[in-house]
Amino acid sequence: MKAVTLQTLKDLKARNERFSSLTCYDASFAAAMARAEVEVILIGDSLGMVLQGHDSTLPVTVDDMAYHTAAVARTNKTALIMADLPFMTYATLPDALANAATLMRAGAHMVKLEGGAWLAETVAQLARGGIPTCVHLGLTPQSVNVFGGYRVQGRGDAGERLLADARAVVEAGAAVLLLECVPTDLARRLHAECPVPVIGIGAGPDCDGQVLVMHDMLGLHNGKPARFVKNYLGSGDGSIEAAFRQYVAEVKDGRYPAPEHAFA
Ligand code: KIV
Ligand code: NA
Repeated sequence: MKAVTLQTLKDLKARNERFSSLTCYDASFAAAMARAEVEVILIGDSLGMVLQGHDSTLPVTVDDMAYHTAAVARTNKTALIMADLPFMTYATLPDALANAATLMRAGAHMVKLEGGAWLAETVAQLARGGIPTCVHLGLTPQSVNVFGGYRVQGRGDAGERLLADARAVVEAGAAVLLLECVPTDLARRLHAECPVPVIGIGAGPDCDGQVLVMHDMLGLHNGKPARFVKNYLGSGDGSIEAAFRQYVAEVKDGRYPAPEHAFA
């Protein structure tokens, strides 16, 4: 696979072709994802939960993110590498610029931030400085304590607010949007009007890309998996690489996500 850039994602969107994304935190899995031709790798602050054992993503630091981003970037030279800015590391403009720069130096091609219209100035400044952004909307796990749990977002009037947030950050220069745990209809409406690629997780089939936490799609989770998770371990020859390949194939041909993975 040719190296994937932001332009690749725009071209895929223009052709209405789907692309795949998985979280990844280390060199060995990153190499397997290169062989499986995963287009976008997310070094998610979910590493606070799946690697570090915390109950939320809040304890993760920029140094943690830089360490894992560098490990991934060493062995995967084809995916577009996106790294999360962790909790409270982009609350002020100077912090956002300095911390995003740290992740870019570690090997990221894009940073992801959680929030809405209030991020507009930050998104614009990062873009001016040469840092593309993905804005994460809907269920934003860094705000779990505001939501009172991990629950579906954007139902009813909150859906209109989400659309307004999306418009504001795209207007400010967001390169990509990521929608987590929102009703399928809302994701469809946003996707229909959005000029930049939209990646979904628990947002139904009407997105340009799909993302899953790698551990989830390999069947490794504490307790009951979320509704949108599909276990790919056991695909093909049973290897982890075959699981990644099957996921990529199903995202690209629309088999994943199926209606049972979405929220009505
Ligand atoms: O940290 C993460 O893994 C994420 C995805 C769930 C989108 O932000
Ligand atoms: Na995250």
